[in-house]
Amino acid sequence: MEQGVSFDLDLIRRYDQSGPRYTSYPTAVEFDEAFDETAYKATCARSNESGRPLSLYFHIPFCDTVCFYCACNKIATKDRSLAQPYLDRVYKELEMQAALFDSSRQVEQLHWGGGTPTFLSNAQMTELMDVTRRHFKLAGDDVGEYSIEIDPREADAETVKVLRQIGFNRMSLGVQDFDPRVQEAVNRVQTEAQTMEVLNAALDEGFRSVSIDLIYGLPFQSVDSFLKTLDRVIEVNPQRMSIFNYAHLPERFKPQRRINDADLPAPQVKLDILQATIQRLTDAGYVYIGMDHFARPDDELTLAQQAGTLYRNFQGYSTHADCDLIGIGVTSIGMIDNTYGQNRRGLDEYYADIDAGRLPVFRGIALNQDDLIRRDVITRLICHFQLDMRSIEAKWGIDFASYFADGLETLKGMTEDGLVAVDSEQIRILAPGRLLVRNICMAFDAYLAAKTGPIGFSKVI
Ligand SMILES: C[S@@+](CC[C@H](N)C(=O)[O-])C[C@H]1O[C@@H](n2cnc3c(N)ncnc32)[C@H](O)[C@@H]1O
Ligand code: SF4
Repeated sequence: MEQGVSFDLDLIRRYDQSGPRYTSYPTAVEFDEAFDETAYKATCARSNESGRPLSLYFHIPFCDTVCFYCACNKIATKDRSLAQPYLDRVYKELEMQAALFDSSRQVEQLHWGGGTPTFLSNAQMTELMDVTRRHFKLAGDDVGEYSIEIDPREADAETVKVLRQIGFNRMSLGVQDFDPRVQEAVNRVQTEAQTMEVLNAALDEGFRSVSIDLIYGLPFQSVDSFLKTLDRVIEVNPQRMSIFNYAHLPERFKPQRRINDADLPAPQVKLDILQATIQRLTDAGYVYIGMDHFARPDDELTLAQQAGTLYRNFQGYSTHADCDLIGIGVTSIGMIDNTYGQNRRGLDEYYADIDAGRLPVFRGIALNQDDLIRRDVITRLICHFQLDMRSIEAKWGIDFASYFADGLETLKGMTEDGLVAVDSEQIRILAPGRLLVRNICMAFDAYLAAKTGPIGFSKVI
């Protein structure tokens, strides 16, 4: 597949509207409470017939301090004693979940996200992994993808050593920006030394892959200041990088109200930062995977994209397409068979369900045939920037041109503008369209077509 992304200011300005990030299709706004614990259990029983491998996601919601920009599901607290009662519920949930799945099904992927997973002590993290292994069969280190999100302020070389010992082989590090002025404005003061200690420890301990998160669009950032951070990160040569666009939605995320609008870079400056960033990363040999993600040419994600086996779910891009995903902990979303199911979003409600012996799944959706077809189309476009219509027709028994007549009509303007190339066989997203991949996918989203406009989603810029 041809690689590369190009930056066309005019096209980005014209096409960039807010839209879903398609970590699921349908997106979570379509979930409802008709999908409950009973529906979830029936789904799990059905999924056992497939014998598919499993993926486990654990949500650890606590953070010691709040970063003002943060849009994640987290609970800011200095009270470390909150961790154990949470873990006790997680253990009960693990037991209830494990009872639903055939014990022969192997876990090939495991991820701890947050919040801040290393809010837990080293002993607590060790215990959590021990309990997990008691209930589920984890694949060996060579096959399994075991990843954790790390805030370098909440970890040191000793933590990294423990994490490797208990089985993790990948990590992502939240850096965001090295500039002290930016860090102060967003309440995330993190020295370069803290980041480098964790990074070097990960290399020493034999972590297979380290990914670094940066955010552009934060207060006081300029092209020069952001490139300084980027250059420092490029020097240490991580396998992957995520460059997120700061989504400023203060009505929705309360801590963002503490960010002064006047300190944010203007849209033009954000565009300039994005352009300079893409140029710098491309020059340094990184490949644009899509949707904020870059990887080295020898990284598994890059290779999977070239081989047409890349996949995307709640944990972002992945090489494990064929797993049923079990979400554990408050707010977690699972994806079993043809359904999505989400756990309670408040800690009290989550505890109440678990203490009453109920699974905390409170809403979700069972995908119908149309959802499945559209999810397949959107996933292929997002992962591979191209789609073979004949293969969709053969898989789903449809005539692509008539089934997607509306979507193809929407793509006509984008074709004229050089974002996509469409013929009777293929849709290919061209280099100038790749930053706008979500806008292209929106043409195939039946739920957006039924609404007047997507509200509350983020944008490229
Ligand atoms: C759960 S956090 C990572 C783990 C850890 N809590 C930390 O901050 O290092 C996931 C990532 O989401 C990104 N993020 C959070 N809020 C964001 C926002 N409003 N816009 C863009 N990216 C955001 C940050 O890059 C952050 O590293
Ligand atoms: S960015 Fe990470 S550390 Fe900061 S508030 Fe969000 S989840 Fe917590």
